[in-house]
Amino acid sequence: MEGSQLAADDWWRSAVIYQVYVRSFADGDGDGTGDLTGVRSRLPYLAELGVDALWFTPWYLSPMADGGYDVADYRAIDPAFGNLAEAEKLIAEAREAGIRTIIDIVPNHVSDQHVWFKAALAAGPGSPERELFHFRPGRGAHGELPPNDWESEFGGVPWTRVEDGEWYLHLFATEQPDLNWAHPAVRQEHEDVLRFWFERGVAGVRIDSAALVAKDPALPDLEGHQGPHPYVDRDELHDIYRRWRAIADEFGGIFVGEVWLPDAERFARYLRPDELHTAFNFTFLSCPWDSALLRRAIDDTLAEHAPVGAPATWVLCNHDITRTVTRYGREDTGFAFTAKAFGVPSDLELGTRRARAAALLSLALPGSVYLYQGEELGLPEADVPLDRIQDPMYFRSQERAPGRDGCRTPLPWATGEPFAGFGSTVEPWLPLPADWPSRAADLQERDPGSMLALYREALRQRRSLTALHTEPLRWLSEEPGLLLFARGDHLVCAVNFAEHPAQLPAHTEVLLTSCPLDADGRLPRDTAVWLAL
Ligand code: NOJ
Repeated sequence: MEGSQLAADDWWRSAVIYQVYVRSFADGDGDGTGDLTGVRSRLPYLAELGVDALWFTPWYLSPMADGGYDVADYRAIDPAFGNLAEAEKLIAEAREAGIRTIIDIVPNHVSDQHVWFKAALAAGPGSPERELFHFRPGRGAHGELPPNDWESEFGGVPWTRVEDGEWYLHLFATEQPDLNWAHPAVRQEHEDVLRFWFERGVAGVRIDSAALVAKDPALPDLEGHQGPHPYVDRDELHDIYRRWRAIADEFGGIFVGEVWLPDAERFARYLRPDELHTAFNFTFLSCPWDSALLRRAIDDTLAEHAPVGAPATWVLCNHDITRTVTRYGREDTGFAFTAKAFGVPSDLELGTRRARAAALLSLALPGSVYLYQGEELGLPEADVPLDRIQDPMYFRSQERAPGRDGCRTPLPWATGEPFAGFGSTVEPWLPLPADWPSRAADLQERDPGSMLALYREALRQRRSLTALHTEPLRWLSEEPGLLLFARGDHLVCAVNFAEHPAQLPAHTEVLLTSCPLDADGRLPRDTAVWLAL
C-alpha cells in the first residue's frame, strides 16, 4: 500500500475502504441507474480522495427486490450495471490507480429468480431440488399456518406458501429464499463463487448477514426455545468460514463479515486467525455521540479484538444506516433499526459539525475505516417521497418505517448539471433532493472548508502518519466530555464533547482540525484535532 508502513499483504489492517452502492454512485449510460461505467469514470475522484479499496454492494444479476441482495446469478453482472468484462476492467483499472476491490457475497439467501429456486418450485415437495432451501409443510389443520413462529428481519412472517401448499423460509423479503447450508452443494457452490471472483482479481469479500447463515434443521419455535439460537451465530458457521479462509489464503484475499452480535466473545470467534480477517464494528456505528459511550465502545472494541489478533474496523454509516449528519443532528444520536421513524427532526448544522469530528476520530483509531459513498460529501438522509420508496423494509413494516432509501439517493457530482451531475438523462431510480446541487462534489472540491476537503486532507495525512498504521492507542485523559489519546509518542487526537472549550496538550504542530480552534487556541465543542507532539 502506497505510503503505508505495513507490508503489502497486511494492507487491510489499516485500510480506508470506500463503499460503493453502485446503483447510486454515478450513471455512465444515462438510464437513471448508476453503473460500472459510472464508477470507472470516477476512479480519478476516488484516487484523489485517497481510499485504499472499494467495497461494491452486490452487482450481480438481480431482480432488485432488495437492492441487489437478491442474487439471481453470482457469475453475471446485472445488465443495468454493465457486464462481466466491464467488471474485470474496473477491477484492473482500480488496481492500477492503487485501489483494491472488495465484492459482496450473500450466502444466506438467493433471489427467487435464481435457477436453483425456480427448479425447486418446479420439482415439488420431497424433491432433491427443494433440499437446497428450507421448505416445510405448514401448521394448522390444512397447513395454512407458517411452520414456526420466527419473524423476518424486515418484519412480518419469514415464510411464504407456494402453490403446492409447502412453505419456504426467507429471513428477509419473500423474494429472498434462505439456502440450506447443511447441504454440501450449497457449500460447494459458494466456494466456487469465491474462487471465480478471486481469479478475477478481487482482493476481498464482504459477507452479508454472516451470522445468520446456518440453521437448526429442526427449525424450532423461538418461544420457549432452550439452547443455541436456531439461526443466529450457530457454531456450524465457523467450519464454513474456515473453509472460505483457506480459499482466500490461496489468493491473498481477505474477508469482512457483517456480524451483528451483542456478545463480544462470540463476535471475536469469527475473527480467529483461521476465520475472517475483519468484521464490521456495529457497536461503534450504533453508539450515540457521547464521549463516555464512545470511549466505552472504543475500549470494548479493542479489548474484544486483541485476543484474536484481528484489527478493528470503524464504521459510521452504510447503505442500511441513517446518514451520519442527520443522525448526529437528532436528539437521539444512536442508531437502531427499530427506532427508524418518519419526521424525526435534525439540526443538520450540528450534525455536520459532529460528523466532521467523528471523521477525524475514526480515522485516528487503530484499524481499518469504512467510508460510505456520500459521507465524504456530508450528505444528509434524503426524504424520499412515499410513492418513490422501493425498500422492502418500508413495505414489510406496513409502511410505518421509512426504510433505507434515504441513504441510497444518487450522488450529486456537478452543481449546474441535470440531476446534479449524477449522469442520468432520465429521472433517476430515486429522486435527488432539491438542495443536492449545493452539495455537489465539484463545488466541494473548490471549497477548502467542505466535508470533501476535510476527508481528502485527513486521508492524505493518514497515509503518511506511520503511527496511525502501527502504534496502539493510549488514553491521555479521564476528563469527562473529552476524548484524548495518543498513537505512539508523536501523535495525538482530541475530541471535545463538552460545552466549554478544551485546552490542548503541549504540541509542536496542529496537523488538522475538524472546525477551527477558538481565538485562544482551544478546542471548541464537537470538534476534533490531530496534533503532532
Ligand atoms: C444486510 C445488507 O446490508 C442489507 O442491505 C440487506 O437487505 C440484508 N443483509 C439482506 O441481504
